[in-house]
Amino acid sequence: MTKLALGILGSGKGSNCRAILEQIRDGKLPAEARLVLSDVFDAGILDIAREFNVPNAYLPPGNFRTRLEPAVEAELVRLLQQAGVELVVLAGFMRVLKEPMLAAFPRRIINIHPSLLPKFPGIEAWKQALAAGEKITGCSVHYVDAGIDSGEVIGQRKVPVLGDDTPESLHARIQIAERELYPEVIAQFAAA
Ligand code: GRF
Repeated sequence: MTKLALGILGSGKGSNCRAILEQIRDGKLPAEARLVLSDVFDAGILDIAREFNVPNAYLPPGNFRTRLEPAVEAELVRLLQQAGVELVVLAGFMRVLKEPMLAAFPRRIINIHPSLLPKFPGIEAWKQALAAGEKITGCSVHYVDAGIDSGEVIGQRKVPVLGDDTPESLHARIQIAERELYPEVIAQFAAA
């Protein structure tokens, strides 16, 4: 079976990336990680890529805070295309992608978000859910479009909010669900 070529982008510790790479290693996910890229020099996700022998690089983001410098985004497209990436997987990537990436990978960029979208887009979604008194929250995998966490939802996993939850305990429980959901959704792409 041919393996789906993945490019994984992240800015943080990389627990979702680890879950994906473990499933690939264990033969549970018919995919191949071609490239891991980060806009943060010392991000844990780059250490994880090295641990799994996946080609990886730090991409200096330029002067903007919430997006990539246009020339950098063009370079990102080039790197991903050169690596033959078929599906771009955002795993804690903290910058908004713009037209160059969206045009180069139509319906081929996905993201994971820690809420049941369309509820609670944006940062610290688990805190938003707790503050709103939700009894159930969760995580969503969605297509990336020009908005923030606004693209079509592909898959979701529910997580109960417990009476004594703190933001930290709820976030930890959501992240466990994320690490199950993301490889499952990627497997659907691989099977398509
Ligand atoms: C995840 O919790 C995800 O919901 C959000 O960013 C976080 C990344 O965590 N988009 P990690 O770097 O995969 O550990």
